[in-house]
Amino acid sequence: MGGDSLECSYFSMDRSQVDSFLRTFHSRPELLSSAPGRINLIGEHTDYNNGYVLPAAIHLRTHVLMASRPDHKVRIWADNFQEEETFDLEAIVPSESRRWANYVKGIFWVLKEEGHKLGGINAAIWSEVPLESGLSSSAALEVSVIKGLSTIWNIDLPPLKMAKLAQRAENDFVGVKCGLMDQFISVLGRKDSALFLDCETIEYAYYPLNLEKAGLVILVHDTKVRRKLASSEYNRRRQEANQALEILKRRGVRSYKEATTSLLESSRGEIGPVPFKRARHVITENERVRQAVEALKQDDFAGLGDLLFHSHESLRDDYEVSCPELDLLYDVGKESSGCRGARLVGAGFGGSGIALLEKRAEEEFRKRLLDEAEKRGFPRPEFHRVAIGQGAAASKFNSSESS
Ligand code: GLA
Repeated sequence: MGGDSLECSYFSMDRSQVDSFLRTFHSRPELLSSAPGRINLIGEHTDYNNGYVLPAAIHLRTHVLMASRPDHKVRIWADNFQEEETFDLEAIVPSESRRWANYVKGIFWVLKEEGHKLGGINAAIWSEVPLESGLSSSAALEVSVIKGLSTIWNIDLPPLKMAKLAQRAENDFVGVKCGLMDQFISVLGRKDSALFLDCETIEYAYYPLNLEKAGLVILVHDTKVRRKLASSEYNRRRQEANQALEILKRRGVRSYKEATTSLLESSRGEIGPVPFKRARHVITENERVRQAVEALKQDDFAGLGDLLFHSHESLRDDYEVSCPELDLLYDVGKESSGCRGARLVGAGFGGSGIALLEKRAEEEFRKRLLDEAEKRGFPRPEFHRVAIGQGAAASKFNSSESS
């Protein structure tokens, strides 16, 4: 089976989810779809700046069981919240109290906007991707739903189109102006590979991540810090980076990919100090992504690790999206001989970071972080050793299975 279908059948999957579906909707599910969360090796806050990113899908996924209904109603059960949301396809409006539901409604909304014929749906959703942790639980939810709906309704959505529609749902329905990285990797992730994406041209390529052979693991450090203002700060960073780019454009560059730090330095007088720093991050981060690809090609994990540390420094000092709990990961990483590199992932302001570790150093590293977090009065962090997984997949149960 490829990345498009799931290796599961109605009978082989976790019965508790099927039973809960039967209890909730008094009907059998017709389809199972799922989509992964992600880490990003490097290339942070570069996607919406038309730059380069290097994410990888993780083994933690969001799953959806679905069945059609004969009417125009949609009923969604969210297991993680133990909540149900119901809406009518004639009036898809954001929910004030159940923010999770907006990511699902946004997908129905965007498919309707695209002119697809929609029908009623019962769906049960459960997520292994920790929520609001910087591992892209939002994209995993959007993509698992769009993958499921397009499969159940036989809508032919090529992968890029699917990722873009999921992004549009988040931008225009949920109201978060995210870039394309998270949805793209959730659709197109490949086992044991990182994906290089040029967010301007949408050219992409896979690079094997030979961690096992090198005796390395990727450890996610979830700080458990959840920032309420993260999305407004995110949108502000976008504006500031844009402001600097407008000035650089007058110097003849089309996009950040063409800008250099020397061009930026020579424009320092015209660019305010804050947009200047934002621009310096974007320009140097794009360069680091290119270097990271070269490092990966040669299995040069020492080189890759250094780039991760530099990326964190730039996110902390120039883009100013870190926080003390994420800086702790970097500090401990710098001091630990078994750590090749560490940095925050995703939007920042809390959430998670990743560390590239020698396998033998993992236990000690976790312990150091737990001890230091306790000493400083930080929330107790959680850890996930992540495997690099496959992109979105869906399977209809054949009728003999589900009848
Ligand atoms: C969030 C967004 C992405 C990207 C990252 C920062 O995860 O959804 O589009 O901008 O932040 O790199």
